[in-house]
Amino acid sequence: MTSRAKTKSHSATEKPKSSKTRKARIFELLKAEHAEALGMIEEICENGETMEDAERLEKFDEFRAALMAHSQAEARAFYAPLKEAASEPALVLEADVEHIVVQRLLEDLSSPKLDAERWMARATVVMELLEHHIEEEEGELFDLAESECDEETLAKMADDFEAEKERLTEIVA
Ligand SMILES: [Fe+2]
Ligand SMILES: [Fe+2]
Repeated sequence: MTSRAKTKSHSATEKPKSSKTRKARIFELLKAEHAEALGMIEEICENGETMEDAERLEKFDEFRAALMAHSQAEARAFYAPLKEAASEPALVLEADVEHIVVQRLLEDLSSPKLDAERWMARATVVMELLEHHIEEEEGELFDLAESECDEETLAKMADDFEAEKERLTEIVA
C-alpha cells in the first residue's frame, strides 16, 4: 500500500507532548482502525479509475461499513467521556463535526447518479478529510485524553469501544 507521506511538520504553537507514554489500549485500538480505513480509501483513490464500477462500489461499501462502525463506536466510547472529562471540549466538538461532514460525503458517494469522475473527486476529498481528521485525533485529541483522563477512564474507553464494535457488528451481520 502506498500511502501519502505525512511530511507536514507540526506548527510551532503546538503544545509539547504530554509526559505520559500514550500506552493506553484505547489509543492502540483506534490507531489500528485508522490505518485500516485509510488503507481502504487510499486503494480506492489510487486504483478506482481503472476499476469496474461494481468493483469500486464493492470496495467503497466495505470502506463505508468499516468507517461508520469505527466512528459510531468512537463517538460513544471515546468522544463522549472525553467531553465530560475535558475542561475544554472544543477539540472534541470539532471532531464530531468532521465525522458529520465525512458521513454526508459518504452518503453522496452511495448515490448512483454520480458519474465516475465526480465520484472519484468526492472520494479524494473524503480521503483528504480523513487524513486530516486522523492526524488531529491521534495528535491533539489523544494528548487531551492523556492529560485529562485517569487510567481507569482510559481503560473503560477501550472496553466500551470493543463492546460497541461488537454490538455494531452483530447488528450488521
Ligand atoms: Fe477515529
Ligand atoms: Fe474520529
